[in-house]
Amino acid sequence: MDYALIGGTGVEKLCLADPRSISVNTPYGEVNLETAKIEDVEIAFLRRHGKKHNVPPHLINYRANIWALKEIGVKKIIASGAVGSLTSEFEPGDLVLVEQFLDFTKNRPLTFFDGSDQGVLHVDVTDPYCPDLRNKITTAAKQCELSIKAGGVYVCTEGPRFETPAEINMFRILGGHLVGMTGVPEVVLARELGICYATIALVTNLAAGISKQPLTHAEVIATMNMINEKFATLFKTTCKLLDDKQNCYCASGSKEVGLF
Ligand code: HPA
Repeated sequence: MDYALIGGTGVEKLCLADPRSISVNTPYGEVNLETAKIEDVEIAFLRRHGKKHNVPPHLINYRANIWALKEIGVKKIIASGAVGSLTSEFEPGDLVLVEQFLDFTKNRPLTFFDGSDQGVLHVDVTDPYCPDLRNKITTAAKQCELSIKAGGVYVCTEGPRFETPAEINMFRILGGHLVGMTGVPEVVLARELGICYATIALVTNLAAGISKQPLTHAEVIATMNMINEKFATLFKTTCKLLDDKQNCYCASGSKEVGLF
């Protein structure tokens, strides 16, 4: 199984033909996945918030999830994530290809490399989202005539609460474009295990203080339901372009383990 989709809020509804449930044991706990063929390509599908959408962002077992995907042989992950927008460049309903992140999480296990037996690793994240995979997604978007905007800097907050307008203002001054709660450490853990990873952010709302109304999960879900179809089309088209070669440096992310 070379490829996986990690689906966030709303993408639970992506129609999988003939899905098969599997469970994978990891040192961090058991992970339940589905596998299905999309456009004749075998894909592992992981629901980040669980089947019943009952796992909040700060309690997601990110290490177990990424370990499980590695365990079944996954080399490339496409992740989706609902985000609020901090800029007029990105509006509710837009799909954005994330390029960089700012990590404002507070209380999550960050790494597989906690010292002792695993050693210590300072993994390189100069280009955290696989350039090759991003190119494929951009090509797929052109093929299916969908717009995907590039250049997003994703701010990851701890959640589960939304942000204050003061926080959003600070993130904007620091260079953030999008805000979500689940992108980190997922992207970093994938790099640590040498898996290519790209995020398609789904803009569901204007961030707190930019939006005229208080934020609600219902608003996020309602916009997600509207974007879902676009995302599904883009994902399916991307599947046809995937190849299992890693022509990038993502796979060598953990080569330096033990040198520090
Ligand atoms: N903030 C944080 N996470 C989110 C938001 C937001 O505004 N919208 C969707 N996920």
